Amino acid sequence: MKALTVLAFGGFALAAASVTTPAIADNHGNKLMKEVEMKVDNKAHATAIAKRRAAMRAVSGNMKTIAGYLKANKGGPADVAKSATMIANIAKVAPDLFPAGTGMARYPAVTGAKPEVFSDNDGFKKASMAMASAAANLAKAASAPNAGKKEIGMAFGALGKSCGSCHKVYRQKLKK
Ligand code: HEC
Repeated sequence: MKALTVLAFGGFALAAASVTTPAIADNHGNKLMKEVEMKVDNKAHATAIAKRRAAMRAVSGNMKTIAGYLKANKGGPADVAKSATMIANIAKVAPDLFPAGTGMARYPAVTGAKPEVFSDNDGFKKASMAMASAAANLAKAASAPNAGKKEIGMAFGALGKSCGSCHKVYRQKLKK
């Protein structure tokens, strides 16, 4: 039997094989879930939207951890490798977090998932895989013996670009 990839972020525990059963465990996840539920009456859709937005926030948090090492010497390469691996794991399941009918065409102001996520789902999957491999490269660079900031920084830059190239096509920024 294939082992499940289990991820926990923003109060959600996410098993790659069962993305429909969230376990909401902390206030951060609850708050977002409540905010989304107020505007989305379909429970399954609300869960999908809250879960992927929490996933993106977790990605962002891990990017900050990595930047903290590169720019302010907080933590070390092992922390970078750990954060990069978390990002890679989220990237691998990201396409599953966007079920059809949950985009901004139906739920404006609640989700920034553009119609292209669904109309060009192959492209969206490719962009997720590009993010997964950029994150895996970074984890590898940070795990190398005598890992240096130069190599880690370059791999971090490439990972950052993968965010931008997906967002440019598939995401509309939500107003605060
Ligand atoms: C494969 C495409 C893709 C990639 C790659 C990607 N994102 Fe996103 N991101 C999205 C989409 C789509 C949304 C909008 C989700 C929604 O609102 O339902 C989003 C939303 C976000 C949000 C807003 C979350 C919120 O509070 O609603 C943040 C922050 C974010 N992404 C950070 C990142 C960072 C940092 C990276 C790179 C390390 C990244 N993303 C890579 C597609 C992507």
